[in-house]
Amino acid sequence: MRIGVLTGGGDCPGLNAVIRAIVKRSEKYGFDVVGVKHGWAGMLERKAVPLKYDDVADLLKTGGTILKTSRTNPMKRPDGAETILENMKKMGLDALIAIGGEDTLGAANELAKRGLKVIGVPKTIDNDLSATDVTFGFDTAVNTATEAIDRVVDTARSHERVMVVEVMGRHAGWITTYAGMAGGADLILIPEEPFDIEEVAEFVKRRMAEGKKATVIAVAEGATLKNVKDLIAQDKRLDEFGHVRLGGIGQFIAEEIEKRTGAQTRATVLGYILRGGSPSAYDRVLATRFGVAAVDLVKDGRFGMMVSLRGTKIVPVELEKAVAELKTVDSEFFDAAKTFFGSRS
Ligand code: F6P
Repeated sequence: MRIGVLTGGGDCPGLNAVIRAIVKRSEKYGFDVVGVKHGWAGMLERKAVPLKYDDVADLLKTGGTILKTSRTNPMKRPDGAETILENMKKMGLDALIAIGGEDTLGAANELAKRGLKVIGVPKTIDNDLSATDVTFGFDTAVNTATEAIDRVVDTARSHERVMVVEVMGRHAGWITTYAGMAGGADLILIPEEPFDIEEVAEFVKRRMAEGKKATVIAVAEGATLKNVKDLIAQDKRLDEFGHVRLGGIGQFIAEEIEKRTGAQTRATVLGYILRGGSPSAYDRVLATRFGVAAVDLVKDGRFGMMVSLRGTKIVPVELEKAVAELKTVDSEFFDAAKTFFGSRS
């Protein structure tokens, strides 16, 4: 048995830990592993390297992906699916493990329907895949964002300023909600609850009237204004999966607050800082368990499935179900966060 493994979409902490686990578990069954370079692009162009355990043994705590990644969408190529199926044969691959988020796994699902023997592993810092309780990378991103908010609070207090912290999260405000709660942000704005900029300014004014001049607001990059459909983006051109490049909502809010309240306001964009770095202990363990379980599914021939975390167990779910809908922050969860809005002294 020869297994290909690829990482697609945005990178996230823990990718190398999954690759390491796949190679180690494969040794147990006598399977060979081949690392496919640059996500789906490597399958289209037949770019791959053999992986032995010595190549991956020290990767547990490293950020990024040794296999590189891309946002190449094979389903956007006229004969992308056929090419990949043919290349599986040409590359001597019996199975493929695709590590990715909604886009990479969406393509994996389409290819599975056309006969590709593929297993999915869910990754994304955004934690927005519905078929798993958690995706690896999320915990590390939350820790990084929380530390950043803690630091911003210090400088907000010193200068008695309003600070707006923009956090990654395209469709879902999970990182923003967790880090905002953990860092004690005064206000959290997420895509799930469009906001009114006048209400945000009023909120700041109320705090100022109470003598609380330092206010910290955490906002997800995908948050939107009430009655405005368009996302604030750095680049409105669509990538191969139909996404614009987000960014700018923090600066927009900061400028509006300063204009409407007179309070000195600054914006900080955490951006790609959240995607890099050494995975947390939680992510190292989750990524390792996912990698082990993915190889077990290959061994059992259970293709078209994705490994997922349910409670404390790793269980397989159909890729079709896994990519059917995104997991967004539910109102009950967000309500708990709201309890503390404006409660910082
Ligand atoms: O991986 C998800 C994500 O981190 C989103 O939160 C963000 O909008 C996007 O990736 C940015 O992607 P890119 O690497 O294409 O700029």
